[in-house]
Amino acid sequence: MDKKEVAGIFIEAGILAEPDAVDYVVDKGIDAGALSEKLMSVGNFFLTKEVIEALEAGNDKDKKSVFIKTASKKILAKDVSGSVKIHSKAEEPQNTKTLTDFVAYFNDRYEKIKNILLAHTEVKNPMSVGRLKEATDEKNVCVIAIISDINISKNGHHILNVEDPTGTMTAIIMKDKNIGEEAIIPDEIVAILGSVSNGTMFINNIVFPDVPIMNHFDKNIEDDLSAVLISDIHMGSNEYLQKVEDRFIKWLKSGEDGAEKVKYICMSGDNVDGVGIYPGQKQDLKIPDIYDQYLAFEKFIERIPEYMEIVIIPGNHDAVRLAEPQPPIGKNFFPNITSFNNVHLGPNPCRVELHGMDGREGMNVLMYHGYSFTKIINAVPSLRVKGMDQPEHVMTELLRKRHLAPMYKSTQLMPSGDDPHVIRSVPDIFHTGDLHSFAVKSYRGVLMVSASTFQGQTSFMDRVGHESNPGKVTVVSLKDKKPRVLDLLN
Ligand SMILES: [Fe+2]
Repeated sequence: MDKKEVAGIFIEAGILAEPDAVDYVVDKGIDAGALSEKLMSVGNFFLTKEVIEALEAGNDKDKKSVFIKTASKKILAKDVSGSVKIHSKAEEPQNTKTLTDFVAYFNDRYEKIKNILLAHTEVKNPMSVGRLKEATDEKNVCVIAIISDINISKNGHHILNVEDPTGTMTAIIMKDKNIGEEAIIPDEIVAILGSVSNGTMFINNIVFPDVPIMNHFDKNIEDDLSAVLISDIHMGSNEYLQKVEDRFIKWLKSGEDGAEKVKYICMSGDNVDGVGIYPGQKQDLKIPDIYDQYLAFEKFIERIPEYMEIVIIPGNHDAVRLAEPQPPIGKNFFPNITSFNNVHLGPNPCRVELHGMDGREGMNVLMYHGYSFTKIINAVPSLRVKGMDQPEHVMTELLRKRHLAPMYKSTQLMPSGDDPHVIRSVPDIFHTGDLHSFAVKSYRGVLMVSASTFQGQTSFMDRVGHESNPGKVTVVSLKDKKPRVLDLLN
């Protein structure tokens, strides 16, 4: 196999392989498929030459030794200053939505994703829907359109209604075309290529906006620090796992085993269990008052060493409006910690840059709580099959769509002329929560972390048939973006 084939196998498996490692695999004739399986079985999605050598030496019994460098005893993080830059706007609350706001919102989404699509070489000379629907016979045409409706005919053809600002038309994907039609999400924006006959388009290819393949991480962050990614603390719940909090704090304060490098902690929403979130929630609450829940959450934050920078965004259980973008949690809920210089309250979704300083770009983390995930998983057959316990699939699709909530009804909106869900720039890390499922995967070089939770299985989750995967903490090195997972439950 040549380098391209080997690299393709790793990309397909979601493994980020350094060029040296690919060379090594080719030179030594190592079976790349078997190696991918081995890596996935030990939860390692980053391949370096050292990792292969460790595996060859039979050093894979202790997973940690395969991909984690020995922790330095030197206390690092507390000796260096940090930098947190929140790049997402925290909009003022707006209670009335007008038609003009919705039109501006959809126009903004269309223009932003159109610009991403225009960078693809396959997308050449796109025509407008208005012009194409008048055509009687046109071959090799391209149009950038919103998929406004999807139906599957009795014969298995996909019948789409597509539109752009100039009009709507019917577009058909014939059965068994296998061009990605199984993953189309209503309301997403794609480029479609094909031919037109009497105003109906026959699609031969779909181009998704997608993220470009990044084969290696070259941010050049000099300090050997790391960021911890967690979510869904659910303070106040009967099922709150105090022992997970205690073990987490004990590790953070230990100053060893990697904790000495932790400079940043990102928390991706549902910080408290909230009040009145679902019918009958009262009986699931240990702390029934929302202000008391946040006071207990503050106590948890106060236990974290003060030299660590903490980024907190809201989720659907927090005390802010449900409509997205959700503004940062109000300071009135945090009487004690908002005066702390190390606590940063961001909106949801939130683009945050960690440790960008001295003119160097930092680690870009796209934090999104994930309220849209459940509805999207349920609406798309290819995702529904994989279920809620494999969140990497919906996360991958959203990166391909370059949108966090492509299906209009997948979340509540507070529309404005800026669609906050468009993934305008490619993040280094995509950090989500909500599903209480845990996954760390790479898609085209973007590290995806569906953070776990500090809440055990609830009766509500029992009722909806979803199993929680609590107690996992992901630690990501800012130097090389390698992840490590702590299991604090078992
Ligand atoms: Fe949650």
